[in-house]
Formats: sequence, structure tokens, C-alpha cells
Amino acid sequence: MRDSLQQGSELLSAIAAGLPQPAIMIGTNERILAMSPTAVEHFGDASLGRHFFTVLRNPDVIEAVGQVLRGGTPRKTRFAISDHAQDTVFKMSCAPLPLERGHGAMVSLEDTSSIEAMGQMRRDFVANVSHELRTPLTAILGFIETLRGPARDDAVARDRFLETMEKEAGRMNRLVMDLLSLSRVESEERVRPKTRTDLVEILRSVSLSLRPLAEAADVRMDLALNAQSAPIMGDQDQVMQVFTNLAENAIKYGGAGGRVRFELDRIDRDPMLRGPAWEATIVDYGAGIDAIHLHRLTERFYRVDGHRSRELGGTGLGLAIVKHIVNRHRGRLKIESELGKGSRFSVVIAAV
Ligand SMILES: Nc1ncnc2c1ncn2[C@@H]1O[C@H](COP(=O)(O)OP(=O)(O)OP(=O)(O)O)[C@@H](O)[C@H]1O
Ligand SMILES: [Mg+2]
Repeated sequence: MRDSLQQGSELLSAIAAGLPQPAIMIGTNERILAMSPTAVEHFGDASLGRHFFTVLRNPDVIEAVGQVLRGGTPRKTRFAISDHAQDTVFKMSCAPLPLERGHGAMVSLEDTSSIEAMGQMRRDFVANVSHELRTPLTAILGFIETLRGPARDDAVARDRFLETMEKEAGRMNRLVMDLLSLSRVESEERVRPKTRTDLVEILRSVSLSLRPLAEAADVRMDLALNAQSAPIMGDQDQVMQVFTNLAENAIKYGGAGGRVRFELDRIDRDPMLRGPAWEATIVDYGAGIDAIHLHRLTERFYRVDGHRSRELGGTGLGLAIVKHIVNRHRGRLKIESELGKGSRFSVVIAAV
């Protein structure tokens, strides 16, 4: 009798050890018999042999397990545990476990935190997009109303309103284009670019195309490119977009410094890419960005100063697009900034 009990618990431990998801087996005496390695990670190995409700302290879970131990039907429930900084949300199912003397219960858990976090992100995204579209739309609708009513015969006001309406419609158009471009980049993020392109050429042509914007903002652009050519495997249009977005930001938000610098240097061996690489940096000497914002800058719709960005026609998607394109090119984006001194946005990408 003892031998078969002993063998039974060894068998349970062996099965638990091979289960990938968190699983806890509970004996007829309501004590924990065996735990899978991921359950040990969450609840600690001191839980073995303890009464199950000192470990699984959630009332719904205790209720479900108790019911199964009393011979009830299998149950499912959801619960969250919080350790240190984060909450982990579990889906729990509990089923009877036939044992030598009656039956115990087997609790298996599924960590659904990342699925829930994704759902939350999707909801936030939809809320953000709707909000961004509604603001200009409300303005346009308001002006239409005014043009039909009070401003009907006022030619001067009409021109001014039409101009504002054009600006708002332009903003909506840019937002939709940026969203499309973001979703295109995201969908091919796992497909490596197959064509060769040249960073020197790209940086030169970005600086040429941004010349009107820089002149209007009274910003001088310097090119400090330490190479004749800088071949990489890359999608030319996308890499152009990266440096266009970075340089546009440098002019728009860092333009107070009066100049923006394009740097390009070769790295003989990049520790992360494990080989030779190019580092292209857009430098500005403007207001800089407070360190608390740096790690969130590449989030969609994240802006340091939302009001100012909107005034300058920004949608807050530029750096999110940059990040996805850089990821697709297996490169790295580095952001350094000091308040009052300016910012450096660098892209490191493998050389070929
Ligand atoms: N060089 C910079 N100096 C200071 N702040 C910057 C700089 N670059 C970006 N930022 C801040 O980061 C925010 C996010 O930049 P991002 O390019 O993603 O959006 P945006 O410029 O507001 O809009 P979009 O690029 O879509 O037109 C900006 O709103 C701005 O507050
Ligand atoms: Mg931008």
C-alpha cells in the first residue's frame, strides 16, 4: 500500500515536471502533491505539501477547487496575482484527479497577461485614432455650419475658414497615410529586405528634399558623412522615410538650435550585430527631451508636447514608423538627449 502510494506520487511529480504550463496537483487531504516548474516559478517550491488555499488564495479559485474535491464538476475561472511591479492574469481550470484513495484535483493555469495587454493596446489604438480623427473633423463640420449661416456673405471670413478647413483635412489625410504606412511596415516586419542601397546617397537626398522645410525654419543642415559610400541591405523608400522622419523632427522640434547635422560613421565591429555596421545620426541643438519621455517616444501617438506637435501638423506616428522600419532592417535605434542641449537619434545598421 505505502509502495504504491509512493509510486503514485512519484508518477504525479514526473508528469508535473513535464508540463509546460503552470499546473498544481492537490491530494485528497487538500494538500499540494506536485507542481509543474512554471507553477513553482509563480508560487515558490515551499508550496509543496502545504494546504492549497494558503497558496491559491483567490476566493473563486478556492471555491472551484473545493467543489471539485467534494466531487463536483470541473470548473473554470479567471484570477490575477500581483508580484512586485506587475499583475499576472491567469485563466484557471480545475478537474478531478483520480488517486489511490478517492480523488484530488488538478489545477492548470494559463498566463493570459500578454493577450489581455494586446487587447488593451488594440482598444487604446482605436480610441487614439478616433480621437485624432474626430478633432479635425469636428472643426471642419463647425466651419461648414458657419459658412452656411453667419459667414454666408462674408468673403474674407469665407477664405479664412476654407484655409483652416484645408489644413484640418490635410491633417486627416496625413494621419490616414501614416496609419497605412505603419500597417504596411508592420506586416512586412519579418521579411528581410533583399535589395542593396546606399546610406550616403539616402542621407544626401533626404537633406536635399528637406531643404525648403529647413529654410522656412531658419535651420542650416550640415552633412558630416565619413564615407564615400555606405552599402546596406535595405528598402530604399523605407530607409529614406526613417531619415526623413528623424530630420523633420530635428528641424521641427530642435530647430531653435539653428542647425541640424547628419553624421555617418563606420563601426568595425558592432557588438550586437556582431560585425561591421554603419551608424547614421541626426543631431539637433534644440530644446532636447526630458529623460522621462525617452523610452516612450516610439509609441504610437506619444508626443512630448501634444499641443505643439499638433500645431506643427504632427500625428505622433513618425517615430513609431521609424522603429518598425529599423526593426525590419535588423538595426537599432538609439536616442540620446539632454535638456537645453539637443538630441541625437542614431540608427545602427549592418554594413554589407
Ligand atoms: N529632435 C527632437 N527634439 C525634441 N523633441 C522631439 C524630437 N523628435 C521627436 N520629438 C518629440 O517626440 C514626439 C514624437 O515624435 P514623432 O515623430 O513620433 O511624432 P510627431 O512629430 O509629433 O508627428 P509625425 O512625425 O507623425 O508628424 C514629438 O511630438 C516630439 O514631442
Ligand atoms: Mg515626427
